[in-house]
Amino acid sequence: MKFTIHRFSSCPSTNDVARQLVLRGAAEGTVVRADEQTAGRGTKNRSWFSPRSKGLYVSLVLRPSGGTISLMPLAAGIAASEALRNEARLEVRLRWPNDIVWQGKKLGGILCESAFLGNSPDYVILGFGLNVNHLQEDFPEELRSAAVSLRMIQGREGDPDLLLRSLLNRTASWSARVARGEKETILESFAERSVFRRGDPLRISSKGAVVEGEYQGLDETGALVLKIPSGVRRFTDAEIEGLV
Ligand code: BTN
Repeated sequence: MKFTIHRFSSCPSTNDVARQLVLRGAAEGTVVRADEQTAGRGTKNRSWFSPRSKGLYVSLVLRPSGGTISLMPLAAGIAASEALRNEARLEVRLRWPNDIVWQGKKLGGILCESAFLGNSPDYVILGFGLNVNHLQEDFPEELRSAAVSLRMIQGREGDPDLLLRSLLNRTASWSARVARGEKETILESFAERSVFRRGDPLRISSKGAVVEGEYQGLDETGALVLKIPSGVRRFTDAEIEGLV
């Protein structure tokens, strides 16, 4: 994949800029990177803390011709974990659907946004936020106990440029697997890195309700499967609150 990188000193949200470019016909491989975001977005309508020159804030446009698009966030998580392993020698875990986690703390997240033309995918925008050079005091009080950065873990500055190159290459490779329908490879690779293991007792919140059950892994669309007393439930839009 050929990457065309648009770099901004500041922008509201790289995902939003990427979408504007897509609506004007941007090709696969279009990348939007910002040194700071003034309205960085997380999943579930949350904001993403994006202070200047501390994190890597980047969005990649994909235009897959097919495949199960709901696996894209998982593929992106695997790609990010490989980039961190290759460039920073750091082993991270993935918390379904899109958290990059180190020792229980959040090192990064992925915001996947897509649109369809009929049944075919039109575009996918994968937005990555990685905490690279934050010090603990850089995080606002309410994030301090749950968030971590590469610098806090390793005690030295991380190189966002190096990480970016690897992140883009790994994401191109894993998203191509999604497009080719290589579901098993993706699900296996995610399971190897997952914070949760089959059989773990989990508490999930979904659409305002809390559900407890036994984690069964992910189905072939990437939905979380939970065994509950009355049978099995699948969740596409939920948050794992933690182990029961
Ligand atoms: C999450 O864990 O909630 C997902 C966070 C995703 C943040 C990134 S930063 C680059 C891109 N632009 C955004 O506005 N959000 C994503």
